[in-house]
Amino acid sequence: MEFRKEQTEGNSIMNNNVIETLDTVCARIDRRTARVGIIGLGYVGLPLALLFSEQGFRVTGFDIDDRKVSVLGQGRSYIVRIPSTEIQSARQHGFTATSDYSQICDLDAVIICVPTPLDDFHQPDLSYIKATAEAVAPHLRAGKLIVLESTTYPGTTEEVLAPILEKGNGLGLKAARGKEAAFDEFCIAFSPEREDPGNDSVARRDIPKVVGGLNPTASELAATLYGTIFNHVVRVSTPAVAEMTKLLENIYRCVNIALVNELKLLALRMGIDIWEVIRAASTKPFGFQPFYPGPGLGGHCIPIDPFYLSWKAKEFDFHTRFIELAGEINAAMPYSVVGTVGSALNQNKKTLNGARILVLGVAYKKDIDDLRESPALTIIELLQKQGAQVSYHDPFFAHVGRGRHYDLNMDCAELGNFERYDCALIVTDHSDYDYERIVRESQLVIDTRNATHGIDSPKIVRC
Ligand SMILES: NC(=O)c1ccc[n+]([C@@H]2O[C@H](COP(=O)([O-])OP(=O)(O)OC[C@H]3O[C@@H](n4cnc5c(N)ncnc54)[C@H](O)[C@@H]3O)[C@@H](O)[C@H]2O)c1
Repeated sequence: MEFRKEQTEGNSIMNNNVIETLDTVCARIDRRTARVGIIGLGYVGLPLALLFSEQGFRVTGFDIDDRKVSVLGQGRSYIVRIPSTEIQSARQHGFTATSDYSQICDLDAVIICVPTPLDDFHQPDLSYIKATAEAVAPHLRAGKLIVLESTTYPGTTEEVLAPILEKGNGLGLKAARGKEAAFDEFCIAFSPEREDPGNDSVARRDIPKVVGGLNPTASELAATLYGTIFNHVVRVSTPAVAEMTKLLENIYRCVNIALVNELKLLALRMGIDIWEVIRAASTKPFGFQPFYPGPGLGGHCIPIDPFYLSWKAKEFDFHTRFIELAGEINAAMPYSVVGTVGSALNQNKKTLNGARILVLGVAYKKDIDDLRESPALTIIELLQKQGAQVSYHDPFFAHVGRGRHYDLNMDCAELGNFERYDCALIVTDHSDYDYERIVRESQLVIDTRNATHGIDSPKIVRC
């Protein structure tokens, strides 16, 4: 397959670019001589950069956070599960980090992994994607591949990213939309990230990678590129299908977690152990996948991504009821936890107002160093509003400062002296905790994660 030859040789875009066939570019990818750039070196982008580096590519990482660029430049890591030795090894293979976007022109493929949060009105905040596109555009050259990995609503790649890249590149380049790419075109695709932080049961390489290009050339290039680091690439027909695939996966989780959260509330009222029910149901070899209740949703994905689709759906005069209902149930869980703490203290003839409460675990899930959207933060704020004196412990966070939605400014308490607190509240079930000891030494334990499973004590209240 060839890039279409509709341009004259004198076209300005050809000054810097060697004319190449698609096969030649793919061959350079296969030989690892193609240059790869990753924009956004966070929880998604940094591991991705390291995967390409491990496969022999010379990778350039871009981030607007100077601290991250500097830490990586010193061969260190800022993500707990990535040891510094991996950064040092990548650096030996040519990995560099920078905030200088002019280096984009030397790259063959650029993958964008920037945040996609919700704004204060629970609407998609595409400002990071837009800012990235505006920064990339002036350095874009014909034949280059741009892939978006940030989770977003269907249509973002084609309707938001492509137009900004087209408008801002100054060379009149267009995103390739026809059967083949022309010399004055660049290629664009969407490929969702499927990482599950803290889950080591599947090697990253074995997680199939979904790819949807805006045209067949973009799909071919993106599939070839990802084929070097993933064992199985799943091609879909358009970027919108790839975007919607990611949302379906996360909405599926969000809705099922809401279902089990609601059933947990009912089971508590009925005196049935929901965890035992889930364990029993999980023995069914078909048609059932377990989801687990908790103190509320956390992380960058499940509490946020579904609302990208419900927002987009309104453009089509469509109301996504499952998403809204699941959001309502999941968002109510931290309030339910605080209600349980109040009732349990009441049983001990104490009030929430003035109670000393130790929150155990603030990360949004066990054994990870990620606080984003963590229900612990909401729970701490709600407890404080009721007059409780809240301390926290988390092995991953020495301090909890200011985030997008909170400003707690708290230091990690010592793990011990449990008897000093009126209540220990297990919000995140980190593996390092000695739950036997916590129960033994505490006056009261509220367990939102079934972390005390198997421990029999009247001091434990499960919720
Ligand atoms: N973390 C996950 O487990 C996960 C899983 C699947 C999908 N995702 C999606 O991947 C995307 C990235 O998530 P993340 O967890 O890596 O976020 P993150 O906040 O950890 O990292 C994003 C990085 O992008 C940088 N950045 C922001 N604007 C930039 C710009 N204009 N130029 C260069 N760098 C910029 C930030 O400084 C940050 O380092 C999001 O859309 C998220 O929904 C995340």
